[in-house]
Amino acid sequence: MSSQPAKHFFPFLVFAAMQVFVPLLAAQSHPSAQDLLKQMTLEEKIAQLSQLPGKPFSVFEKEAGKPEDIVRKYGAGSVLWVSDPAEINRWQHIAVDESRLHIPVLFGLDVIHGYHTIFPAPIAMASSWDPAMVEGAQTIAAREARAAGIAWTFAPMVDIARDARWGRMVEGAGEDPYLGAAMARAQVLGFQGTTLGPDRALACAKHFAGYGAADGGRDYDSSYIPEEEMWNVYLPPFKAAADAGAATFMSAYMDLNDVPASGNRWLLHDVLRDAWNFQGFVVSDAEAVHSLITHGYARDGEDAAYKAFSSGLNMDMASGAYWKYLPAEVKAGRISMQQIDDAVLPILEAKIRLGLFEHPFLDESRLPQVLNAPEHMEAARKAVQRSVVLLRNEHHALPLDKSRIQSIAVIGPLADADLDLNGMWGAMTKPAPAVSIVQGIKNKIGNSLRVEFAHGPNIQRDIPSFFENLPDIPMKEQPAQRDEEKRKAFDDAVALAKRSDVTVMVLGEIALMSGEAASRSSLKLSGGQEELLEAVVATGKPVVLVLINGRPLDIQWASAHVPAILEAWYPGSQGGNGIADILFGDANPGGHLPVSWPHNSSQLPIYYNHNRTHRPEDAPDFTSRYWDSSSFPLYPFGYGLSYTTFSFDNLRLSNTAAKVGASLDVSVDVTNTGSRAGDTVVQVYIHQRAGSASRPVRQLKGFERVNLVPGARQTVHFKLGPEELQFWSPTLKKWVVEPEQFDVWAGEDSTAKLHAEFRLTE
Ligand code: NOJ
Repeated sequence: MSSQPAKHFFPFLVFAAMQVFVPLLAAQSHPSAQDLLKQMTLEEKIAQLSQLPGKPFSVFEKEAGKPEDIVRKYGAGSVLWVSDPAEINRWQHIAVDESRLHIPVLFGLDVIHGYHTIFPAPIAMASSWDPAMVEGAQTIAAREARAAGIAWTFAPMVDIARDARWGRMVEGAGEDPYLGAAMARAQVLGFQGTTLGPDRALACAKHFAGYGAADGGRDYDSSYIPEEEMWNVYLPPFKAAADAGAATFMSAYMDLNDVPASGNRWLLHDVLRDAWNFQGFVVSDAEAVHSLITHGYARDGEDAAYKAFSSGLNMDMASGAYWKYLPAEVKAGRISMQQIDDAVLPILEAKIRLGLFEHPFLDESRLPQVLNAPEHMEAARKAVQRSVVLLRNEHHALPLDKSRIQSIAVIGPLADADLDLNGMWGAMTKPAPAVSIVQGIKNKIGNSLRVEFAHGPNIQRDIPSFFENLPDIPMKEQPAQRDEEKRKAFDDAVALAKRSDVTVMVLGEIALMSGEAASRSSLKLSGGQEELLEAVVATGKPVVLVLINGRPLDIQWASAHVPAILEAWYPGSQGGNGIADILFGDANPGGHLPVSWPHNSSQLPIYYNHNRTHRPEDAPDFTSRYWDSSSFPLYPFGYGLSYTTFSFDNLRLSNTAAKVGASLDVSVDVTNTGSRAGDTVVQVYIHQRAGSASRPVRQLKGFERVNLVPGARQTVHFKLGPEELQFWSPTLKKWVVEPEQFDVWAGEDSTAKLHAEFRLTE
């Protein structure tokens, strides 16, 4: 008896050992990054420093030749703009089966707010003030992208934007460095997790740095940002991304203080590597290395490649300049092999960390199950509910009461929009069809009420978008119409409003009106939308305005005449359903603005955390304002309403004096004073009264989104320590915490009244 089990036990032991060691052996079956480097020729190394366009792209092909041929012979660091899974596997087979060292390619794509399940656009996600929700959304985005073979996303965009004319405000978290840092951190953790598993993708903090400060809000235009403003305003979200472990950074297109960001050694080396100890790699924006010539910074392609590389840029996105010119730079001794190795190493290491050597190919049969996971769409719907901002709600116009109405008109050029709800980047990936707002309303109320739709006149950009000409970009302008067609569409819409009990108007911007190369000089509702709104309101019937847009718009008239206004931004796949949840009160809006909302474009740039002037607007005369317009926004940063109300009291500090370097506890009580459960965002602002530099009138230094049932009261605590109280001083040229007097405010937006103060001492 006794020998039998032992006999069976031995094969079992071998089997068990194999389970443990074979995967380990397999995991080790590729060489280390250092070993690989030893085997690589110069060309193979420079191929790793190149990101090749996976679609025809003349700039690259003119400079460097056919991308596929390069991959076949030398491999490549990365291929971008391929979103089709079969095509990804095809490219990967070329790299892994045919290139000499079989190094897999890293596929990069703009998975900005979702691959298949499209979440609300980043400015909407920031409006949720809910980093945990944002992290969860990007975890889903990474899971879907990775299943489709995309192991690297060009997100998060963490550019501070203070000027709504700039079209890319939609892609970031708005104007504030503190909120921006929280959103940057959440997104990096969402994409990458704490370790890069098979469901994760590399994050890329972009556009490093200062891109949002483009002159006049014109995309790509120069930024002039003093060093103190870089450290205190524009860099903190990038620092947060680096601290959260962002594996990659993307250098921006524009000139920063006369030195293009993609050849700016101060940015790419002194700040990123020296000050922040960044260990990942930096990719340029598309063609940005070549653009160093256009900027008038580099003499020619060779000079451009040299300047970009020697300033700290590892990978050239799609310009071909590295591929074409770096070998000669090395042979001529201007760039050493050691510098090349140092630049290649983090790229190889990223591929190893992602597990690409073990699993270079995607499993197409698994894809539908991942992309269609019902919990992804549920998360997207929740994200819409949490990101919508209620800007106005007179006499409880919202939520709509189904029992008191028989018919609803849904009117406007974006009311039936589906693709447009995904925003511009939805075009790059493989988005699920988005639920339009008219459809969302129908889904919500079934056949119990009459729901009718009228489009109104079409809207277009004044000049067509570049993206429209790309063959596989699905979203388009709305076709131009003759005057009679416009008039008829207008009249039909007004007639529908007249015969309905309530009108939901859906106005704003089609996707191509916001985003890259989509700056505008006016924020007005374009294409006759304002006139349509005024005519519908003139019917005397109740109107709710839902805005679909990528930036604050000029809604001065609406803010005085339309009883309810909901800012929905680009809400993504579940837009219609999530907005219907809010309209009918199944969800209570709790989003707050991540930007100051101007009255009109002539106030731009506008931001709450400005310095106090020689004659502030509230001084008796000679004030810092336009004589024909206020310098205050229409809605302040941090603002947002709910179907319930909240009160704040009992703001207290653990100490009214503390030593520099110590931390204080700030606490405030918040009470739901209305009759529904709801969320508010408790916000804490500080001001340093004097010091080695003038400090902003207010700065956000803490926030928490809380949910309270009617009558409930909660004490919310915040820490004010060196991290929150420091700033980069232009006179001392370093980070300081100063022994000075500070103000503290707490409340629901950046105009919060509840005040306390404390002193820091030596
Ligand atoms: C240009 C854009 O500026 C950048 O945000 C994007 O990631 C790249 N193109 C790649 O598509």
